[in-house]
Amino acid sequence: MKYVISGIAGFIGSNLADRLLRHGNTVIGLDNLGRKGTKENIKRIRSAGGELSFHQGDIRDNRFLCELFTQHRNAEPCFNWLGRLLLPLHMERWTTF
Ligand SMILES: NC(=O)c1ccc[n+]([C@@H]2O[C@H](COP(=O)([O-])OP(=O)(O)OC[C@H]3O[C@@H](n4cnc5c(N)ncnc54)[C@H](O)[C@@H]3O)[C@@H](O)[C@H]2O)c1
Repeated sequence: MKYVISGIAGFIGSNLADRLLRHGNTVIGLDNLGRKGTKENIKRIRSAGGELSFHQGDIRDNRFLCELFTQHRNAEPCFNWLGRLLLPLHMERWTTF
């Protein structure tokens, strides 16, 4: 199958990609590589073998997203594993609400 993973260079995304690639799937990944250690994670995923198409870009960039999904129209499902760990911020808010 052909999967799309956003946040592919992160902790969850890279481990999911690694597993899918090792099982012979095709993976389309996007990530802005904004977090420390993400380039190393992409190198690790590439060494898993299988068919990986990595696209560096930001999910807030509509043009980038449209081009990616036009190019990989037949990909599904899509896993969304990007974002920032905002626990400290949430904790702060919980105490103020
Ligand atoms: N790791 C956990 O135990 C855990 C638990 C619960 C929820 N989550 C949530 O799951 C998601 C992924 O967690 P993780 O540990 O893999 O985080 P992570 O920081 O390791 O990975 C997030 C990835 O998203 C990328 N990214 C961030 N903003 C982006 C943007 N605007 N465009 C493109 N790429 C962007 C980063 O470069 C990074 O590679 C987060 O939203 C996190 O809050 C994680």
